[in-house]
Amino acid sequence: MGFIDEVIAWYKVNKRDLPWRKTTDPYIIWLSEIILQQTRVDQGLPYFNRFSEKYPRVADFAAATEDEILNMWQGLGYYSRGRNMHRTAQLVMEEHAGYFPKKYAELIKLKGVGEYTAAAISSFSANEAKAVVDGNVFRVLARYFGIEEPINSSGAKKLFTELANEVIDRSDPATSNQALMEFGSLQCRPKNPLCETCPLRLHCQAFQKNMVSILPVKLKKSTVRLRYFNYIVLQREGRILLNKRGPNDIWQNLYEFPLIETHDFSPAQSIVNSENFKNSFGNAHIRNVFGPVKHILSHQKIHAQFIVIDNNGMDGDYSSKHWFFTDISSLENLAQPKLIFSFLKKFLDSI
Ligand code: ADE
Repeated sequence: MGFIDEVIAWYKVNKRDLPWRKTTDPYIIWLSEIILQQTRVDQGLPYFNRFSEKYPRVADFAAATEDEILNMWQGLGYYSRGRNMHRTAQLVMEEHAGYFPKKYAELIKLKGVGEYTAAAISSFSANEAKAVVDGNVFRVLARYFGIEEPINSSGAKKLFTELANEVIDRSDPATSNQALMEFGSLQCRPKNPLCETCPLRLHCQAFQKNMVSILPVKLKKSTVRLRYFNYIVLQREGRILLNKRGPNDIWQNLYEFPLIETHDFSPAQSIVNSENFKNSFGNAHIRNVFGPVKHILSHQKIHAQFIVIDNNGMDGDYSSKHWFFTDISSLENLAQPKLIFSFLKKFLDSI
C-alpha cells in the first residue's frame, strides 16, 4: 500500500463521528471549515451545532444581522472572520441566487474563502480532486517524506500543496482529504505523536531518522507588538460602563470597558493617579484588580489588567468617548473580544 492508502485504511478504523462529514451541502461544510480554522474540533462543535441549527441555509445566515452573527461567534476570536462570513453569505444570495458554489474556481472568488477552504468545500461537497493543506497536512507530509523546508517559508505552501496534490487519492478525494487531516490531528499529533502504534512508521522518514520532534521545521518570527491594556471596570446599580471600539485597530465595533493603554506595565494605583484617568473618573478608589492576564493575537501580545473602581457617582464626559452604561443583563447581546468575555464570566460570578 502506498502512503495515502495507508492513511485512508487508518482513517476508516479510527475516524471520529463528526456532523460535517455526513453532508455534502457546501454551505454547511463552509460553516464547519471556517469555525475549525478558529478552534479545535471539541471546542468548535458546539459553535457548529448552534450555527447550523439557527441558520440551516445560507439564506438564513445572510438574513441575520451582523450583531447576531458576531454574538454567536463570541469566544471564537478573530471577529473579521465572522464579519467576512456574513458578507460572503450575502454575496452568495446576490450573485449565486442562494446556491452556495461547489466548484473550486467559483469558491476561490468568494470573500474570506482562500485556497484551503475552497479545496475543502469542493472536495467534500463535489469530490473535486483538490488537496486541502492545513497545519495537520503540513506536519504529516513533512514527517513522512522527511521534508526539512520550514513550513512558514515563502516557498513552503507551494511545495506542500504540490506534494499533497500528487498523493491525493483521485478515486475519492473527499475521503482522502478528511483522512489526512484526521491522521494528523489524532495520530501524527504535534506533540507526543503516537509513533509506537503508527501503521506508517516503517516508511516514515522522520521516524526512521529519529527526527519526529524536529519536523516540521518552523521559523521563528519576531514581529510581535507588545501592548498594555488597563481596563477600568465601573459598576453602578446593576449597570456597567462600556466602550464601543472604533475602526483602525483590533476588535472593530466590539464592546469592552473604558481603556487606558500604556507603553509599559503600570501598577493599578499609578493608572488611577494619572491625568488621563482623573479627567474621566475624578478621584476613585480601587476596589479590586484582576490580572495582569496575557492575551495573544497573531501579531500582538496584550497584557491586560482590569481595575475595578468606585468613584462616588462622578461622571466625566462619557458620551464623547463612545462610553455608555448598560444593564448587566444586556451584556449577552453585545459582542465582546474573548479577553473581555472571559473576564466578565469570572467577574460576574464573583460579585
Ligand atoms: N479541521 C479542519 N477541517 C476539519 C474537518 N473537516 N474535520 C476535522 N477536523 C478538521
